[in-house]
Amino acid sequence: MGGCYSLISSTKVDNSRSSQNYSDPIKPSYSGQSGSGGGDTGNVRRGGEEIYSSNLKAFSFADLRSATRNFRPDSLIGEGGFGYVFKGWIDEQTSTPSKRSSGQIIAVKRLKPEGFQGHKEWLTEVNYLGQLHHPNLVKLIGYCSEGDNRLLVYEYLPKGSLENHLFRRGGQLLPWQTRIKVAIGAARGLSFLHDLESQVIYRDLKTSNILLDMDFNPKLSDFGLAKDGPTGGNTHVSTQVMGTEGYAAPEYIATGRLSSKADVYSFGVVLLELLSGRHAVDKSKSGMEQILVDWAIPYLNSKRKLFRLMDSKLEGQYSKNEALTVANLVLICIENDAKLRPQMSEVLKTLENLHDSNRENASNLYRKQNNDQKQPQRRRTSADVSSSSSKPRSRRSSDV
Ligand SMILES: Nc1ncnc2c1ncn2[C@@H]1O[C@H](COP(=O)(O)OP(=O)(O)O)[C@@H](O)[C@H]1O
Ligand SMILES: [Mg+2]
Repeated sequence: MGGCYSLISSTKVDNSRSSQNYSDPIKPSYSGQSGSGGGDTGNVRRGGEEIYSSNLKAFSFADLRSATRNFRPDSLIGEGGFGYVFKGWIDEQTSTPSKRSSGQIIAVKRLKPEGFQGHKEWLTEVNYLGQLHHPNLVKLIGYCSEGDNRLLVYEYLPKGSLENHLFRRGGQLLPWQTRIKVAIGAARGLSFLHDLESQVIYRDLKTSNILLDMDFNPKLSDFGLAKDGPTGGNTHVSTQVMGTEGYAAPEYIATGRLSSKADVYSFGVVLLELLSGRHAVDKSKSGMEQILVDWAIPYLNSKRKLFRLMDSKLEGQYSKNEALTVANLVLICIENDAKLRPQMSEVLKTLENLHDSNRENASNLYRKQNNDQKQPQRRRTSADVSSSSSKPRSRRSSDV
């Protein structure tokens, strides 16, 4: 289930007095690549606020109620700080509700009725996700704004959240290579946001906001807290502190000064969760152990101690060198001084190198195996015959 530990209060509230208005519609300059999906186009006005949506479908509440079978509890697939998420079905062509197990599967987030702040987050998410398109961002199909009801309709991601995979008891184990794949995809999504001409700060990176498709490709979801980055040579935007305990950067918590380096810090925490299989915050533990970063630093600092931090569920099935590289990456991402943290593009490069060297190792191995197979077959001798008898062979040191 989604975010448990919000800062300031259990709900995500932003009474921002920043120079930028949180609910301001995104300027149309965000055009990005045009997304697919039919439906209503153009700018839609709702109570004086504007939805800039080039490709979003405006759903009726009745249609979404019917697509989710009346928001039945057995359709519930997730809950975050702001909404309940239900699984539903629509017709691919007409986007009208369709029978269960036919048509396109969708995820419908219905905002909890918490008044105007909920509406602001909803509008923020519609405007960002309506215009930003990238393979590592969740695809928003449409929205509904009818009376007090605010809903969002996304592509359905069948593997659910990274949080569920890392922490849910009895969940499918995430092997090391999949963890690296997820880290790379999440880093790509963040780099994309940070490198846009009008930078976007995601502000709520955590395992429950990273969703996984059938092949474990990660997609950032939940753009309710996203914010425009600083402009005109400013180093940060000032805003009320929002985010999630355990993931939010120290300078942002202390001063409300937000820069893309706050996302880098949160990314470091997610990497740490991938390494350790431990929650960013765990209130069931005592003292230092409650906050993952505080507990982990002594282990990250030492090559000798690192294995004590690693997720025991991996049962040692990971490359020590790769784990060490990731641990070093965590350390620079969670630097106290934001200026010392790397850009997301640099983090991405390091992770991709790790991945590429894996591929290189794999293809070297493949080449070696191929060459071995091409070696002329030696004629079988009597010695061979005796060694292939049913008698067990004694194990030599060169045997693997
Ligand atoms: N598109 C989706 N496909 C599958 N599961 C989803 C989808 N969107 C959300 N979920 C599930 O619902 C949870 C809460 O969604 P989220 O958008 O983070 O809500 P909130 O804004 O309330 O935090 C996620 O952690 C995930 O488990
Ligand atoms: Mg969430």
